[in-house]
Amino acid sequence: MEVIKFKQIGVSFKGSGSYVPEQILTNEKISQKVDTSDEWIQSRTGISERRISSSGDNVTEMGYKAALSAIKMTNWDIKTIDLIVLATSTPHDLFGSAPSIQAKLGAHNAVAFDLTAACSGFLFALITAAQFLKGGSFKRAIVIGADQLSSFVDWNDRRSCILFGDGAGALAIEATNEFDNFLGFDMRTDGERGSFLNLPTKNNRDSIIDNIDFLKGGFSPINMNGQEVYKFAVREVPIILNNLFRKTKYSSDEVDWLVLHQANQRILDSVGERLKIPREKILSNLAKYGNTSAATIPLVMDEAIRDNRIQQNDIIATSGFGAGLSWGAAIIKWG
Ligand code: COA
Repeated sequence: MEVIKFKQIGVSFKGSGSYVPEQILTNEKISQKVDTSDEWIQSRTGISERRISSSGDNVTEMGYKAALSAIKMTNWDIKTIDLIVLATSTPHDLFGSAPSIQAKLGAHNAVAFDLTAACSGFLFALITAAQFLKGGSFKRAIVIGADQLSSFVDWNDRRSCILFGDGAGALAIEATNEFDNFLGFDMRTDGERGSFLNLPTKNNRDSIIDNIDFLKGGFSPINMNGQEVYKFAVREVPIILNNLFRKTKYSSDEVDWLVLHQANQRILDSVGERLKIPREKILSNLAKYGNTSAATIPLVMDEAIRDNRIQQNDIIATSGFGAGLSWGAAIIKWG
């Protein structure tokens, strides 16, 4: 990709898209597998059902469909897209799934790469893409969040398997020299607390020839300390957002929508309370999809854009958080 220098100063939000697999796993059905109940799951998490990929739905396919839908909202010529960033922890190809999405879209002029930051992934990818646009390197970008955590969940662990689902979402963003709707961001990492939530490799020792071992690739299922992750989220997310309000000189009163990573309804409610943002301004689709990791933020935004809750010039405060541990926040104006 030839890097052309534009003279832009800002980012404009042009389109959104999403995709979820058709297969629905209700709480009722999970309770046939592990000792739990619809009542327990709903009251502790707000989740009623989630989507689970079956054959044909992988991160490449889901990400492609979400990206295509976002591009259709923009009326862009696909050949004018410069950059595709795919946030995922569950690529269809460990060498990267973004290039396959680029090929399926026919976005031949775009450079495409994966970025991994678990449930903070979409936000980190959006911030990354925005820097390329603001720096003047690229003009049009598609940022995708897609994950298929169902493949890595221990379906016998009732403490974690109830939370996760599969899906994808995407935003189309463009550089502009007229205004800047990417109003501010912050990002944090604390690897010291990484063991609270991880999906580690499982290296099975094998031998190539006598006396030469190698470690076969593979992954252990998701390992989570739910209580610690919960405490981390309800403490750090209000802090990072409040700091960002101070930095950008926006106040929580001016926020039209609080768009948090969809992990647990109780986390959404608690963060909203701490920021004094009323419940009707907090987007939630947890009941239908659960935690789709990197996909949650663009998925819930796309729903609200398509049903006209999010309108042009609305102020959106968003925060992603999760494994790493990692967390981040951004304030944007839609449009
Ligand atoms: N059904 C029924 N009982 C369950 C259960 C389930 N699915 N999961 C756990 N329990 C039980 C526990 O065994 C425990 O029983 P005990 O007291 O007899 O030992 C009891 O419920 C309370 O467990 P606890 O872990 O304290 O529950 P909790 O209120 O913290 O809720 C989570 C568990 C996972 C819902 C909650 O901690 C959470 O959402 N954490 C954040 C996780 C997250 O968001 N991860 C992704 C971040 S990106």
